[in-house]
Amino acid sequence: KGCKLVGCGSAVPNLKVSNDDLAKIVDTSDEWISVRTGIRNRHILAGNDSLTALSAEAARKALQMAEVDPDDVDLVLLCTSTPEDLFGSAPQIQKELGCKRNPLAYDITAACSGFLLGLVSAACYIRGGGFSNVLVIGADALSRYVDWTDRGTCILFGDAAGIGLKLIVASFELLSQLEHAVFSLRRFAVHISPNSACNSEEDGLFGFDMHSDGGGQRNLNAPIVENEVDHALGSNGSVLGFPPRRSSYSCIQMKGNEVFRFAVRCVPQSIESALQKAGLTVSSIDWLLLHQANQRIIDAVATRLEVPPEQVISNLANYGNTSAASIPLALDEAVRGGKVKLGDTIAAAGFGAGLTWGSAIVRW
Ligand code: ACO
Repeated sequence: KGCKLVGCGSAVPNLKVSNDDLAKIVDTSDEWISVRTGIRNRHILAGNDSLTALSAEAARKALQMAEVDPDDVDLVLLCTSTPEDLFGSAPQIQKELGCKRNPLAYDITAACSGFLLGLVSAACYIRGGGFSNVLVIGADALSRYVDWTDRGTCILFGDAAGIGLKLIVASFELLSQLEHAVFSLRRFAVHISPNSACNSEEDGLFGFDMHSDGGGQRNLNAPIVENEVDHALGSNGSVLGFPPRRSSYSCIQMKGNEVFRFAVRCVPQSIESALQKAGLTVSSIDWLLLHQANQRIIDAVATRLEVPPEQVISNLANYGNTSAASIPLALDEAVRGGKVKLGDTIAAAGFGAGLTWGSAIVRW
């Protein structure tokens, strides 16, 4: 069994915040931010906006593109570090989409690498059998955990949701037995390329490479904060033998230059490793699509891999670093803008807190 990306969608909150807007609250400037990061605007959840609703909006667009009914979704993976419920938000998205068969829906936490991990997980589910249509959602609202007095971090992040829909594509013999045989056949036919450098033409995920390094957590984190609440209980609290507490998370803490160095070192290695596993080389890819954190990181990785600028996808000027949403958001824009075409091969890579990083070579 193989699997393919067959739809994408994205959504961002309405509120747009420019570099000049930020210069009104912290000591910074449009010039500093755009030269050091490439970012000019970001969209921020405000008022009654919810990440769950944003994710559902993006998911509807992906389902529409793929011509898949919500009732035919049989797995929802929400890749996020900022769920709207401690116990996860994926089931709420499933509910908002009205998936009547109660498909499994759960959250995956891997910061800015989350979407890639979700894609790889979806592929494993599909290849293992029993799952056909998997919604992989990358969504984050890091603005909720930013210290808006810290100019080193508050300029970087924006909120968004992006979706990739994976669909089973089986071998020719099995196609007629599939629930979505007609649809699959059409897609499958379009994807076959006699000149393809890839051996497994029936599969849209050619190779991947994923890593973590807990030792690097100190460079990028938002640790738990224990607030003692025993003062509210008076002396009664002590009878329990421990101070009752209510936990929350601190704001994002980051050593930017360490994260920068880590990304520029590890991401090219990871892409090369994923390409090698796929039996491909850099020259086989049509597009380089990295987590959108900093234009200088994107440029440095492209230079190391010798990918020319015209093959590099970048939209962070408009959205900032949207964490797990950045890859599907950029993919969606590139697909709908006619840049990425059916059959194109994309080297995608994520990196971020954990530390986590990884790559996947996919065919659109
Ligand atoms: N405006 C003006 N000056 C600033 C600002 C700002 N917004 N932020 C920092 N500065 C100052 C610093 O205070 C410092 O001043 P000093 O020299 O007087 O001490 C100077 O600018 C240089 O600071 P650096 O931190 O060394 O600047 P750098 O060139 O490293 O750029 C940046 C900082 C943009 C954060 C960069 O390091 C970066 O992008 N790192 C990667 C971040 C990243 O990719 N994070 C991924 C997160 S993904 C996830 O999982 C959440």
